[in-house]
Amino acid sequence: MRIGVLCSGGDAPGMNPCLRSIVRTVCTCNDEIYGIQHGYEGLLNEEFYPGENGSHIMGMRSVSGLSKLGGTILHSSRSKRFQTPEGIHEAVNILHKHKFNALITIGGNGTLSGALALGKVWDGQIIGLPGTIDNDLFGTDYTIGFSTAVHTAVEAVDKLRDTAGSHDLMFFVEVMGRHCGDIALSTAIASGAEIACIPEIEESPERIVARLRKIKEAGKTSVMAIVAEGDESGGAFAMQKILKEAGNPFDSRAVVLGHVLRGGSPTPEDRILASELGNFAVSSLLLGESGKMAGKIHGELVLTPFQHCVAEHKKVDAEQLRLLHIVAS
Ligand code: F6P
Repeated sequence: MRIGVLCSGGDAPGMNPCLRSIVRTVCTCNDEIYGIQHGYEGLLNEEFYPGENGSHIMGMRSVSGLSKLGGTILHSSRSKRFQTPEGIHEAVNILHKHKFNALITIGGNGTLSGALALGKVWDGQIIGLPGTIDNDLFGTDYTIGFSTAVHTAVEAVDKLRDTAGSHDLMFFVEVMGRHCGDIALSTAIASGAEIACIPEIEESPERIVARLRKIKEAGKTSVMAIVAEGDESGGAFAMQKILKEAGNPFDSRAVVLGHVLRGGSPTPEDRILASELGNFAVSSLLLGESGKMAGKIHGELVLTPFQHCVAEHKKVDAEQLRLLHIVAS
């Protein structure tokens, strides 16, 4: 069997250990694996990762040292061409030309939508893997990259807390996560932040300011608010302005962590999840599975059809929200 593997969309820490696990599992089974560079765009351009002995076939040693490496050695992209019927048709021709039997795609929602569209016209097998810091995919408790992103955000908030404490300030710290508040919520709990502003929960500026007044009356001199980029306020700077106008009793600063969260060496949790899911993706292909995303739910490795993954929305963890309200009070 000849399998192709690609990373698409925003890179996530853990994509490299995932690739390592996929390649080594394929080699163990004596099948062939090609690394496709620059995601779906690279597939359309026939860009293959240099394999062993001058071929495109990746071997055991092609993925040495990848466990601790952030980013993706395959490179990633967001392909506009692949979102058109012509692009998909062209991709099918290329997959046939290079005699691929199967494809593994690592990425987020856009990557899965691409895989779903491709699966409707290509006769090969496709398995998707959840590689995104956002943790917004239905079909897995955690996505590859989420743990590292939260780890990085918490480290940054801990540092900002020093300045907040020294200068009696409130910080608005914006974290990535597109339309999902998971990074913000987990960061808030882990860093001991007083406030989390997430897209899943609407809260009026007046209520937040009332809470801030109480916090001040209780004798706190500094406050951390974690703001998800997708929050309806429009992010950290917008939230800072809105609350100032609503009477925020604290002097404040805003910081956007942005792409910093996508970088760095993956945490052990991300490395392990990436290795498990990479191995599971290959075994699933060998068992004839296709059109599904591999994930882990309540400790079990599971497959969920692409159409469910893209149609359904992962719900915010109500238990975590309850916890934040208690520990931040
Ligand atoms: O999906 C991952 C992610 O980092 C989101 O959190 C963010 O909204 C988006 O990608 C940013 O994309 P880009 O790097 O293309 O600006």
